[in-house]
Amino acid sequence: NRVVLAYSGGLDTSVILKWLQQEYNCEVVTFTADLGQGEELEPARKKAELMGIKPEHIFIDDLREEFVRDFVFPMMRSNALYEGLYLLGTSIARPLIAKRQIEIAKAVNADAVSHGATGKGNDQVRFELGYYALQPDIKVIAPWREWDLTSRSALIAFAEQHQIPVPKDKRGESPFSTDANLLHTSSEGKVLEDPWDEVPDYVFSRTVNPEDAPDTPQVITVAFERGDAVAVDGEGMSPATLLAKLNELGRAHGIGRLDLVENRFVGMKSRGMYETPGGTILHAAHRAIEQITLDRGAAHLKDELAPRYAELVYNGFWFSPEREMLQAAIDHSQHKVSGEVRLKLYKGGVHVIGRRSPNSLYSEKVVTFEDDQGAYDQRDAAGFIKLNALRLRLLGRRDR
Ligand code: ARG
Ligand code: SIN
Repeated sequence: NRVVLAYSGGLDTSVILKWLQQEYNCEVVTFTADLGQGEELEPARKKAELMGIKPEHIFIDDLREEFVRDFVFPMMRSNALYEGLYLLGTSIARPLIAKRQIEIAKAVNADAVSHGATGKGNDQVRFELGYYALQPDIKVIAPWREWDLTSRSALIAFAEQHQIPVPKDKRGESPFSTDANLLHTSSEGKVLEDPWDEVPDYVFSRTVNPEDAPDTPQVITVAFERGDAVAVDGEGMSPATLLAKLNELGRAHGIGRLDLVENRFVGMKSRGMYETPGGTILHAAHRAIEQITLDRGAAHLKDELAPRYAELVYNGFWFSPEREMLQAAIDHSQHKVSGEVRLKLYKGGVHVIGRRSPNSLYSEKVVTFEDDQGAYDQRDAAGFIKLNALRLRLLGRRDR
């Protein structure tokens, strides 16, 4: 029997690797994904080799373009925000990791997959719903739900006992847990657990403090085609390159920090700190281009669907018929969502200052307070209001 492990190369998943070899006496295949977390991945290969993994059983894949093109961008088209604020940076990466893990399992003839998410969180659900959707008979091993390494010191003792290198900074309690990719970095736990205490400065890793951001605003232009961002300041870029560019701009201006207490799918509340610099710019820009290219009916329906879509992504139902139905509707709405948005970046804020599109529904001629030369007949409004008032008047006569 063979198991494909989602392996970061860090201490926890290295312990899991060894534990799987011991406890299940199985052959471990490691899979390490580059999702733009900004870490060297070759050390993961070295470590896997040291633990006896055959070279042909070490998979290291650059998934950055697929991540942004097929997961982040489709989600951005929906304007999804979980509980009104969270841009879902961790949630949206899990289905891609699950998908690739199952592909590898099929390729190497593995009967099981394993991950390093705890039994208390959302990530276990997201990974495993993905696995089961794509390979209904797969066996799932979630060590955190099984083993007795329930403390940091037990984990480190196990590592030392098995010659797994423990980085110096991991010897003590690590001060919080993080997850990073091209879309965001999230931090949870330990020093963040009291929701009354302000997040310490050292938690932030990819944005400057807005208070220290430049005193002069920067104006940028983001171009869209059919709902997807395709260029920044006139320069066309691939999805992952574009998001990286927006991250760089957002970082410098301290954009996209979020301190949030959210409801996990398993039922508890948790406090997290998110940094989503590029995603925050993209979200604002996308809403702005929709302002002029979407009809009101379509736009308002999208706004009703967005929380549903966000909840599906958050809860791990990416590979579900209902998410695909919503996606089809959302994608259909985007055919005319092309054009340009101008944004001002300034001290943690992203402000839309202009938008234009060849498909704009905005008519200056109709809306003007000056002479519209017959584009709109104000006398029509009297009947419009009278019929809308009819039932209010009937009610008023009866009840007041
Ligand atoms: N609460 C976020 C989510 O459910 C992030 C979870 C992973 N983050 C972490 N720091 N371990 O999507
Ligand atoms: C974890 O439990 O592994 C991280 C937190 C979460 O998944 O919500």
